[in-house]
Amino acid sequence: MTDTPLTLDGFRALLASFEQEAGPAIAAADSSGALETVRAKYLGRAHGWLKDLSARLGQLPKSDRAPAGSAFNEVRLRVEATFDGRRAALAPSNVPGEIADRTMPARRSWQGTVHPVSQVIDEMIEIFRELGFTVALGPEAESPWYNFGSLNFPADHPAMDLHDTLYLSDDAVLRTHTSPVQVRTLQAYPPPIRVLIPGNVHRRDPFDASHAPTFAQVEGLVVDEGITFADLKATLTHFANRFFGATKTRFRPSYFPFTEPSAEMDVLCGVCRGSGCGVCKESGWVEILGSGLVHPSVLESAGVDSERYTGWAFGMGPARTALARHGIPDIRLLYDSDIRFLNQFAR
Ligand code: PHE
Repeated sequence: MTDTPLTLDGFRALLASFEQEAGPAIAAADSSGALETVRAKYLGRAHGWLKDLSARLGQLPKSDRAPAGSAFNEVRLRVEATFDGRRAALAPSNVPGEIADRTMPARRSWQGTVHPVSQVIDEMIEIFRELGFTVALGPEAESPWYNFGSLNFPADHPAMDLHDTLYLSDDAVLRTHTSPVQVRTLQAYPPPIRVLIPGNVHRRDPFDASHAPTFAQVEGLVVDEGITFADLKATLTHFANRFFGATKTRFRPSYFPFTEPSAEMDVLCGVCRGSGCGVCKESGWVEILGSGLVHPSVLESAGVDSERYTGWAFGMGPARTALARHGIPDIRLLYDSDIRFLNQFAR
């Protein structure tokens, strides 16, 4: 082919065979890898067939170079367009089931976590579940009778004062504690009863370092034959040791209208281990719950025979418990919804 000098017609023939071969080869490439092999063979800048042809162009008589050049360019553009089309068709995003670039580091998806207060509630439910407790719920808008009357509050009890209670109307209050669900549960199910009652409660308390106007409580209630204060102490001590890890507890006498006798349970301060610090207000102890034997009049107002059955109950604030557990100095931090703060407690 080099013996006889190349003519314009000869060059056109070479272009035609180039196009006839390259076009179908490009169309037949079925992967990016195969297409690259085809590209190198026909369009490669170093050794491709097109490169060859452009060298041949230079061998033509000068007068033929202009028409040969435009013929060359037409073919080149057509083959390159065919190539570009095939490359787009084979691009990973256009091939079903392929992802763009398997080697690219994945973007981390944003994921929420469980709020530290909810973590406490979840763990309590878990620990008490092992002891045979199920979960009961009640309404947040409650009748004054369930919130106070059924729970043996004397008619003039200061807790019923407007200062502590948010009334929706004369016969509806935002419950100030989860204890009304004790009565609702006892009305709905016959003893033996072992329930945990998580839920939000509301008081006319200003927000400060240790109070929130709306906060969570977890109530516990056990009613059966032969239940004594020993059951209360043993169960709550077991809970404290499971929840905080082996720790010390103490029970202090207290007063609630709906329990008799009543006691508050303290645990050794987890931050200073009893030596005194800001979290425990230098006492070495953190109060975590109120408790007591269910007052017979509460059993009676729920229709339970108080001669046959006895019970015990407790009420705990999981936000305060979260403060004690993590050594957080201010309850408002838990309710500010600052993701940077809350993320520290992500599980
Ligand atoms: N309801 C009480 C409170 O909110 C807590 C409590 C519950 C005390 C059950 C004793 C028994 O303070």
